[in-house]
Amino acid sequence: MPPSLASLDSIMNDLSCRGWSVAAHFLPQDIVGHLAGETLQAMQDNKLQPGNGGQGAERSADTGIREDFILWLEEPALTAAQRCYLERLEQLRLAANSALHLDLSEFEGHLAVYPPGAFYHKHIDHFHIHGQRVLTCIFYLNADWDEADGGQLRLYLDDERYFDILPQAGTLVTFLSDRFWHEVLPMKRDRMSITGWFKSHGPAAA
Ligand code: OGA
Ligand code: MN
Repeated sequence: MPPSLASLDSIMNDLSCRGWSVAAHFLPQDIVGHLAGETLQAMQDNKLQPGNGGQGAERSADTGIREDFILWLEEPALTAAQRCYLERLEQLRLAANSALHLDLSEFEGHLAVYPPGAFYHKHIDHFHIHGQRVLTCIFYLNADWDEADGGQLRLYLDDERYFDILPQAGTLVTFLSDRFWHEVLPMKRDRMSITGWFKSHGPAAA
């Protein structure tokens, strides 16, 4: 029996209690496998651009602190597996608007590949030129990731405490974009993810 999918209720519960959530099995394993294969292929076909420069840099605006390669998810180039992910995120958006009284509107996201040795220094996602980023969603695509591979997402809970998350295939991390500083520790192997943000254009959510 394949493991059952992460429940949106428990993600909402974690977000409402502490502002962040780590959920394994957000999508069926075969779809995660497709997403990983497609991301690797896009990288090999040179479709990704440096996250700190080149095309699309005006949307990331993080020059000098990141070493990943990215490709924005955009119509009409979406694959069936990417659509599955976006559909499940849409369910999450509706659940968050109802359970957390947010007014999340559109999603913007990109594939990200970090080559060995890459990092993303400590930063916060909130400020953005086109609308306000309210909820960060990071979905990992790396089968059999091991502690020794590095590449942990380090989420700072306050000035003293942090929580390290392995970028394991199928795991979705969500957090309130204006609350949590975070960084990506250097890694020893290619690290793939889909990273994105739900935005809000209305007055700041309570
Ligand atoms: C980002 C980011 C974290 C990760 O792209 O803004 O913080 O674990 N990514 O990939
Ligand atoms: Mn970030």
